[in-house]
Amino acid sequence: MKIGAPRETAANESRVALVPETVARLARAGHELIIQKGAGEPAGYTDEAYTEAGAKIADDAAGVLGAVDIAVMVQKPSPDEISTLKPGAILITFLFARNDPETVRALAQQKVSALSMELVPRIARAQSMDALSSQASIAGYKAVLIAADAQGKYFPMMMTAAGTIPPAKVLVIGAGVAGLQAIATAGRLGAVVEAYDVRAAAKDQVESLGARFVEVPQAEDAEAAGGYAREQTEEEQQKQREVLAEHVAGSDVVITTAAIPGRPAPRILTEEMVTAMQPGAVVVDLAAETGGNCALTKAGEIVEVGGVSIHGPLNVPGSMAHHSSQLYSRNIAALLNLLLDEEGAANLDFEDEVFDAMCVAHDGGARLGLGEDA
Ligand code: NAI
Repeated sequence: MKIGAPRETAANESRVALVPETVARLARAGHELIIQKGAGEPAGYTDEAYTEAGAKIADDAAGVLGAVDIAVMVQKPSPDEISTLKPGAILITFLFARNDPETVRALAQQKVSALSMELVPRIARAQSMDALSSQASIAGYKAVLIAADAQGKYFPMMMTAAGTIPPAKVLVIGAGVAGLQAIATAGRLGAVVEAYDVRAAAKDQVESLGARFVEVPQAEDAEAAGGYAREQTEEEQQKQREVLAEHVAGSDVVITTAAIPGRPAPRILTEEMVTAMQPGAVVVDLAAETGGNCALTKAGEIVEVGGVSIHGPLNVPGSMAHHSSQLYSRNIAALLNLLLDEEGAANLDFEDEVFDAMCVAHDGGARLGLGEDA
């Protein structure tokens, strides 16, 4: 099989879908690898490293996309890139397909089989392919560094000759993959950490990281299918705001990561809650891309209100491109391992729930998982 990755062209995107480590592994298995010139440069992977790993370097995107049987990307391809793909080729990337039927239709028209990375099912067997998790974990780590950098305070308790400085208080809202990594990272930096989530199962995970779980009484658990959260009722949201207000006001840093799949981010921090924080406090809203967990968040900006700064960073995994690319590339390698049979041919078997869930275009038709038509 010819397998390749172009240089990503989306704004703010420094990641690359294949790193030399994966290229070497696929080349050893007998595949032909093609990487666009400079594709890995923003992430710290040189063309020489790809060549040494066994790849050929193509001068432009068309030299990759027009030649390969399997194209691997991070972001969705542009209309031009889609028209370059060979009919019958397989494309693997984050398409966020359920929110972008237009791209799915264009891929179907091009007769491309498209596997959407955000649709990897959350089953034990597919954990190694779960790029939402690998990238969310990086975002959770980086959110803490953004907050620490923006603060005029230490995170750890410091006992100095000039007296003692108390540790920073960090509140993490949403204790999924990103939130748990934020809790662990803030803890490693010595902060006192509290966390809140609507799923009851999160309590044990939060406590096992040494953080305190903020309890909000609620009638029933909010865990829905696949371990994700369901939306909160108005009454639940009111209760949540009442309990959280006090914790937010007492925190030096609030990191929000709450999400409901396929829905806008739940609005959790109100303007009043933020303005009750001490001057110098920092909010990092990892849900900025999907509307924000904080009423004051502006995507891609830092907003200052009453001395509190509210950060709405975009594509946080892209800001740590070396390791986010490496982990993404390993997720891709695990998926290719399932896709490619012993002779090295692609076997897109819809009896396998991984491909059934991920494949959004095939054989000229659009499908949005589980066989539905787009
Ligand atoms: P996510 O990115 O969709 O949401 C992040 C967090 O926000 C979740 O923990 C969710 O419960 C929470 N949340 C939603 N609404 C909220 C609200 N109003 N207030 C506070 N918190 C709210 O979820 P993520 O991080 O991708 O995964 C969530 C869970 O899925 C994991 O903790 C795990 O249990 C499960 N999972 C399972 C995997 C597997 O079995 N392979 C892989 C990854 C995650």
